[in-house]
Amino acid sequence: MDKITINTPLDMHLHVRDGEMLKNVMEYSSKPFAGGLIMPNTLPPISSREEILSYRKRIVEAIGDEQFEPLMSIFFKSSYDYELLESIKDLILVVKLYPSGVTTNSEGGVLSVDLDEVGETLSAMEKLGIPLSIHGETNGSTFEREAEFLPTYELLAKSFPKLKIIMEHISDRRTIELLDKYENLYATVTLHHLTVTLDDLLGGALKPHLFCKPIVKTSEDRDALQNLVLSGHKKVMFGSDSAPHPQEQKESGNGSAGIFSAPVLLQGVVELFDKNGKLENLQAFLSDNARRIYELNPKEKLVTLEKRNFTVADSYGGVVPLFAGEKLSWSLS
Ligand code: NCD
Ligand code: ZN
Repeated sequence: MDKITINTPLDMHLHVRDGEMLKNVMEYSSKPFAGGLIMPNTLPPISSREEILSYRKRIVEAIGDEQFEPLMSIFFKSSYDYELLESIKDLILVVKLYPSGVTTNSEGGVLSVDLDEVGETLSAMEKLGIPLSIHGETNGSTFEREAEFLPTYELLAKSFPKLKIIMEHISDRRTIELLDKYENLYATVTLHHLTVTLDDLLGGALKPHLFCKPIVKTSEDRDALQNLVLSGHKKVMFGSDSAPHPQEQKESGNGSAGIFSAPVLLQGVVELFDKNGKLENLQAFLSDNARRIYELNPKEKLVTLEKRNFTVADSYGGVVPLFAGEKLSWSLS
């Protein structure tokens, strides 16, 4: 096959930032995708009804004439009660929970993810049918942070059986088994965790543009994630975690975590499915699973790619992308 059309591709975990950066990066998502779940870890984080509405407005302005639906989220606070959540229910797709300090702009997150601290808010979300999106890492040793968080996923899944819980950007093969153990656990997977390992990040030269949270892991983890998505697993959605930072900030002595992957996402995902002879499961991963899990009904947008070399630029909107300077075998038509 030398052409493929994806029906209404969705990016279910996306950072587009604010201000100038938003204006510079939005097109790399709004052209190829029909919609995306916008993360709330701006500075300050999105944490009120007014902030959701005004942030959405700035995003819509940056989108301009493209057809792209920004699906909004709010930054989890244990102070959110039933009334507050009810008043924003129609404006958001998820509440995003960050343990404090585990990633970029998460300082205002939850100090300990236990039922004493988050139970009341989660119970209200369960009643209202608002899904919970989680950055599932502890403050422990870098490589073990996701694995150390697994008991918390299990506790929440058991305590709130009607609450849909999305394990974001899963990176560790030990996380995968939870998907089939708890009906209410779902996952997003990024392109970089499907293609990049720790050796790529620091096995040769140090590659700051491959530094992100959760950290990329071993080839066994990468392969297990590939098998999961290539199998067409129904509880797994594409969520890029494209997270742009200015080049100077990534290349400094105190480099920020986050990989800017928006300009290469569909090309990279199609290449992975094509190389593995699994194009029949591409549509589920890029759109259908998310629509079913989140009960979405987005306006149709057909996006075609063709098998033609695409050389990734060194920079897009002042940000160095994933696969900068490399050649991919599929291009957007
Ligand atoms: C993200 C960012 O920069 O906002 N960084 C990252 O390394 N993934 C935050 C996040 O999703 O963890
Ligand atoms: Zn993220």
